Amino acid sequence: MLRYSGSRRREFSGRGVIGLPAATAAVAEAAGRMNRYPAMAAVELRVRLARHLGVTAEEVAVRPGSVGVLQQIITGLCDAGDEVVFAGRSFEAYPILVELAGARSVRIPLDDAEGHDLDAMAAAVTGRTKVILLCTPNNPTGVPISHDRLEAFLQAVRSDVLVVIDEAYVEYADAGAGPDAVTLYRRYPNVCILRIFSKAYGLAGLRVGYAITTAAIAEGLRRTALPFAVSALAQRAAIASLDAGEEMEARVSAVKQERARMAAELDAQGWRLQRGRAIFCGSAPISGCSRGWWTRLTPRASWSARTRATECRSPWPTPTPTTACSGSSQPTRPDTL
Ligand SMILES: Cc1ncc(COP(=O)(O)O)c(C=O)c1O
Repeated sequence: MLRYSGSRRREFSGRGVIGLPAATAAVAEAAGRMNRYPAMAAVELRVRLARHLGVTAEEVAVRPGSVGVLQQIITGLCDAGDEVVFAGRSFEAYPILVELAGARSVRIPLDDAEGHDLDAMAAAVTGRTKVILLCTPNNPTGVPISHDRLEAFLQAVRSDVLVVIDEAYVEYADAGAGPDAVTLYRRYPNVCILRIFSKAYGLAGLRVGYAITTAAIAEGLRRTALPFAVSALAQRAAIASLDAGEEMEARVSAVKQERARMAAELDAQGWRLQRGRAIFCGSAPISGCSRGWWTRLTPRASWSARTRATECRSPWPTPTPTTACSGSSQPTRPDTL
């Protein structure tokens, strides 16, 4: 089992193309109307998303990033001392949002395969549990939750506990490995799916994400939202990105190729590599070094990941099973958040 290092954000500063070209053009066009407030209920985007997902627009709530939705959910459902169950390690924002709401984090360690320990998570549910957070594929291990395991979990959990399925990296999941979350949502109304435009679509800076959930919960999220929080530029870029399916497929495929290339390069350097899943690529600690690491390959990061693979080489020339390292001489660790 890996022990993980902390997390740091290091933003892309190279010259690569960031958003999909169609989104960049839509933003440039919308920039001429900056004096206007955005559509408050983001109806056009919700209708477009509904068509994309096979749900109704009433079941979609659009917010400034999925973190924005999640904060509303946790703050709205939890009183002080209520519990939110999630995996440790998973997305670093979870405990922060729980603490901000005055609720209590119940962190369940990952299993030996670095996936969610769903049995332990179900057993951790108490009368105070209001929300469970599941991340599939998981950040940072990339391990997906299979459809059948997730369905069994939903059967085991009380129906008044909201189960949030965070699919931030769903576009990068291997076909069939993860759940069909929308189907599960139809069977279990206590499910709320979170999706984002920040990674595969490359729109992190514009802040737009969304929830797919029952019309009642989505309505609650809209009613309690800060008005006009999703900018007009973000709404236009999101719609243009959804319309640019082919550009998007090419982007995802390029990132997957980069993941394979980086994995092969690290393999060749002697790292005991955890096979890249989703957009993560990681290594177990090499002999004598206590920490493993993970890196995330995104459109924004694929260029820098290429550099980092090279960076890793210099402090630890070709690690071998007998290579030792001290904590202080570790190379720059790739960021995971
Ligand atoms: C698992 C997970 N969920 C959500 C987010 C944030 O999404 P957004 O940019 O839409 O707030 C991230 C960002 O790293 C993430 O890793």
